[in-house]
Amino acid sequence: MVQAIRGMRDVLPPEARRWRVIEEAVREVLHSAAYEEVHLPLLEFTELFARGVGEATDIVEKEMYTLLDRDDASLSLRPEGTASCVRALQENGLLYNQTQRVFYSGPMFRYEKPQRGRYRQFHQIGVEAFGLAGPDIDAELLALSATCWRRLGIAANVRLEINTLGAAPARRAYREALVAYLTPHQGKLDEDSQRRLTTNPLRILDSKAEATQALLAEAPRLPEFVDAESHAHFAELLGMLDALGIHYVHNPNLVRGLDYYTHTVFEWITDDLGAQGTLCGGGRYDGLVERLGGKPTPAAGFAIGLDRTALLHEVVHQDPMAAGADVYVCSLDSTQTAAVLGIAERLREATEARVRMHMGGGNLKKQMKRADACGATWAVLVGRDELDAGMLTLKHLVNGEQQTLSENEAIACIVANQFPGSSG
Ligand code: HAM
Repeated sequence: MVQAIRGMRDVLPPEARRWRVIEEAVREVLHSAAYEEVHLPLLEFTELFARGVGEATDIVEKEMYTLLDRDDASLSLRPEGTASCVRALQENGLLYNQTQRVFYSGPMFRYEKPQRGRYRQFHQIGVEAFGLAGPDIDAELLALSATCWRRLGIAANVRLEINTLGAAPARRAYREALVAYLTPHQGKLDEDSQRRLTTNPLRILDSKAEATQALLAEAPRLPEFVDAESHAHFAELLGMLDALGIHYVHNPNLVRGLDYYTHTVFEWITDDLGAQGTLCGGGRYDGLVERLGGKPTPAAGFAIGLDRTALLHEVVHQDPMAAGADVYVCSLDSTQTAAVLGIAERLREATEARVRMHMGGGNLKKQMKRADACGATWAVLVGRDELDAGMLTLKHLVNGEQQTLSENEAIACIVANQFPGSSG
């Protein structure tokens, strides 16, 4: 039997049901803020990510799934959505002289070392806003993400860490100062940090190695290099978060792993998932549109990792996301299947219930057993007598009560989740 590729999971029920609950909640939040959905390709030219995400990032350097297509063009499975989103809006003339607030949802691919919460195919819901330079959009994005956590009942399990990187020149100056300070101590850095010293020195701030952190204690500090305008943007943003009641921790070492960020960066982190605790990350990327060939366009966004959000949701709500149906339709006359299928269809349309139709015949006892097994609250029994009378029998599987009713009456009971006059 051929098996799945390492790090590429099957998401099956009940986990897939949890994903749906989460995705629907997030979509509702984004929809309520008038964000528009976009669908983007999974494959792009490798160059898009090399230029967009950054040649020296771990993602581009060693984590992309890159292939040559039949005419030798280098293509990569998208490791993230922001660069593609910029490309798509730019290419279709949707960035010039206008603002855009969009979202996308789908799989991303990174050749990382798989472990719980870290996969080679994972799912993101990404949100991007273009053409808005002020801290108000940063605040809106953070408020929307906070609303998602509240809707999902995991707000108490996540914290917001936030930082500002300053504009590009400030970042460059800091990078130089950091390299100048660390180079004479190179030998004391952990292996990754030694490599990053020449490729992506800011990421050294993220190092978990104790010796590296000890060196960093005396290193030049990012906030001292950040320009006044950026400090002002950040202060204004923090003021808005305070006013909105969104708690945050200012972490001056937060730099993020993608090169396109400027000014605000943030992550929503949980302590309940071990090492892979970042549920969501984002920030401002005012230089990216230009870097990809467009006109200078301020932009900001974030992406929620659905895999990790689902893991946390499961830790918090141990709810098994019960399988099955709400209503089980039993067909007691095998010559009348089409008529019973019609009833099931009408029940589906008129109620929001999940209506499962019994298939494969069998006596009432067998069918009722199936109804119980799928967790249904109601069984609908349809035999020749019911069909002749234009009625059906509705049975409440929890309290055993049973009534013969018209289809419309049955629909009303299912919608109300009780028989008239009954307590449930
Ligand atoms: P990112 O921090 O690389 O940002 O990814 C965002 C989220 O995707 C992470 O917080 C995490 O939940 C999830 N994630 C990343 N890698 C994995 C993995 N290997 N397995 C499972 N989940 C993972 C971005 O991708 C940016 N494009 C976000 C952004 C949008 N910034 C501005 N706009």
